Amino acid sequence: MNRLTRSTFVLAATLALSAPAVAEEATPALKDVFADDFRIGVALGEHQILGREPGVLGLVARQFNAVTAENVMKWAELQPVEGDYDWAAADAMVDFAADHEMRVTGHTLLWHQQTPDWVFEDADGNPVSREQLLERLENHIHAVVGRYKDRVRSWDVVNEAVNDDGSMRDTPWYRILGEDYVTEAFRIAAEADPTATLLYNDYSLFLPAKRNGVVRLMKKVQAAGVKVDGVGLQGHYGLGHPEDMQDLADSIAAFAGLGLKSSITELDIAVLPFPSPDHFGADLNVNMALNEQYNPYTEGLPADVAAQQAARYRQVFEVLLAHADDVERVTFWGVHDGHSWKNGWPMAGRTDYPLLFDRQLQPKAAFWSVVGLKGVTPAE
Ligand code: G3I
Repeated sequence: MNRLTRSTFVLAATLALSAPAVAEEATPALKDVFADDFRIGVALGEHQILGREPGVLGLVARQFNAVTAENVMKWAELQPVEGDYDWAAADAMVDFAADHEMRVTGHTLLWHQQTPDWVFEDADGNPVSREQLLERLENHIHAVVGRYKDRVRSWDVVNEAVNDDGSMRDTPWYRILGEDYVTEAFRIAAEADPTATLLYNDYSLFLPAKRNGVVRLMKKVQAAGVKVDGVGLQGHYGLGHPEDMQDLADSIAAFAGLGLKSSITELDIAVLPFPSPDHFGADLNVNMALNEQYNPYTEGLPADVAAQQAARYRQVFEVLLAHADDVERVTFWGVHDGHSWKNGWPMAGRTDYPLLFDRQLQPKAAFWSVVGLKGVTPAE
């Protein structure tokens, strides 16, 4: 048992055994429970945005006051071919959010994943020039941010530019533009919408070396006189990591020291075993064939494992509440366990249980564990 206090575990175990199936309207709303602390958001898949999953949008409207597009606002989805934009799904999410007074985070303007090959190639298929790549980046950001100006109030401007050791990730952006591509992206985004909240987003930012790498990078952006408002700590955690929640607290404090608010932008806590520590983050370049020894809960989530997860979520929220002045938002990377990237990464075809709502849209022990921190308990 990793650093869990016994009382926390016992409480969580009690919740796990007694997590009641309550009517949705009787379930406390996360956005209300934490209204004095930070916004509570959720990532939506395209099928959910388009209303193709019964019950989901109703639950989202009741529970959350912020939304992020899991995929439909990525470059490959918005501009798959140069100059041809597909706005339909992104428009639908922005409209849904407006109808329910939810804050939208645009995810993401610049990433090395889900970016079409044409972006980095010239007409002959050779690496594009620095000037042409900057022009393409400028065109994309102005088209996207410009379209949603005043409707999308925060943007993940740059996603995952730093390695776990704090060095710059070797991507086409880095190779063609150099390290200053990060500053350029923020400069362009601020030009496109000077009032939007601009975030740098990455995973495993509890790691001291990675934290220090991002601090260095953010200082460079600030030194260039370019606007950056916050850091997105994605929050893809497990039952054993972060090993020490003080590391998470230290990262929030370090970013606050730069005048940057923290948001937990993609929170989930996987319960499945990780084949190796290489899989603690979210490096999609890693993926493995299914091995059933790492897929132990195909028949359901055992109560003792649910209790461990509930205790871990409680630990995370204890840190966030203790630093609420420096935390702007907590967004879950999915509505329920049945639609989570963790069912497919780092190993395809697994059955994970990383979120607060189960596959039947019911609140889990983890849900009651986090709202319990604000004195909210299941109705008798
Ligand atoms: O939309 C295409 C569809 O047209 C095509 O037929 C299908 C089969 O190839 O692929 C579809 O795109 C998939 C997309 O999800 C939408 O479903 C991509 O292949 C698939 O790789 C993509 O996975 C997403 C992943 O990012 C890569 O973009 C996951 O759903 C999403 O949860 C995950 O989220 C990332 C964050 O953006 C950044 N932080 C890490 C996090 C987890 O990896």
